[in-house]
Amino acid sequence: MFGDGGTLERLQDVDQHLLHKLKDIGIGSISDLATTTPPELLEDYYSNYDDATRGIDFETISHLVLKAKQKLIEDGLIQRDFSSAEKMLERRQKMAKFSTGSESFDSFLGGGIETQALTEIAGEFGSGKSQLCYTLCVTANMSSKEDNGIIYVDTENSFKAERIHQIAESRGLDSEEILKRINICKIYYSAHLEAVIRSLARYIEQYRARLVIIDSIISLHRAEFAGRETLAERQQRLNALLHRLRRLSEIYNIAIVYTNQVQAQPDSFLGNGFDSMRAAGGNIMGHASTYRVFLRKMGHNRIATMLDSPYHAYSQVKFTIGEEGIQDLEKKDGKTLAGGSECGW
Ligand code: GTP
Ligand code: MG
Repeated sequence: MFGDGGTLERLQDVDQHLLHKLKDIGIGSISDLATTTPPELLEDYYSNYDDATRGIDFETISHLVLKAKQKLIEDGLIQRDFSSAEKMLERRQKMAKFSTGSESFDSFLGGGIETQALTEIAGEFGSGKSQLCYTLCVTANMSSKEDNGIIYVDTENSFKAERIHQIAESRGLDSEEILKRINICKIYYSAHLEAVIRSLARYIEQYRARLVIIDSIISLHRAEFAGRETLAERQQRLNALLHRLRRLSEIYNIAIVYTNQVQAQPDSFLGNGFDSMRAAGGNIMGHASTYRVFLRKMGHNRIATMLDSPYHAYSQVKFTIGEEGIQDLEKKDGKTLAGGSECGW
């Protein structure tokens, strides 16, 4: 089966009744099981309660999740808690990189959007977050014809298939083939988003996805948990969601890209339009992503800033948005205009 450690039957010494029950609650593979946490699994187990349900304790459930993880470690799909730096490098070499559509942007990212990582794209309205997501859908070169699915989770009801069609056609690519591989999930409530992300492993396997896009991750939670009194709950929910995404990206070796909104920073007096805004979601959002990229408008062009990354120094790049989606600044006399791969200002 796609990118995983196989079916649950591969787990030895597990009660058959328990295996059946796991399937009933939608856990179909070892990878899927390994992405859950024992409390979530216990909740799902009892939410599907019927006469045949047997009581189960936390220890048994924890043991089961651990078993699934150990199987993936044995298969070399995930790392041990302790592993050598050499093994870590080996694992990083298995990752794929997907193009943003702009060479400068790609080299700014060190080759493109990576698998085994969460990439957050934050920015104000119109800064190009969705355009980047659309372009990625078109330009993401998949290593295999079978494992080339894209999952697009649209929480803002803003997905535009005709724009993807236009970007693909302007790049001389087969738009039909590209549109076929994009699986869109429209989300209307935060609880809906949470449920879909809880079941995401199943969809990743079903659609053989290598890229998952969530545009945007926070808008529904932000709208529904607006008051101070609900802030703690919102953050806790977001935290659970982001942790699951992190596990999914590692276990399935997929790229996960999500967009984030910005909020005014009341304590800033710099007033240059960038420093006065910050990505929404507080520390929980800030710490979750592997890469945090901030987009801002500059006339017809855009500037991306790498705000957080384990591999990049603070850097910036300019790009633009055109018929082809995200693209390099116009080339004149064979040279890219100011603001190639890294420009410090
Ligand atoms: P919000 O979702 O509102 O937060 O904004 P966003 O960051 O997702 O903005 P989006 O990616 O939708 O960018 C919108 C901008 O992209 C527009 O203001 C245009 O500048 C540009 N754009 C959108 N469609 C086209 C197009 O077909 N051609 C060109 N040249 N530019 C486009
Ligand atoms: Mg958008």
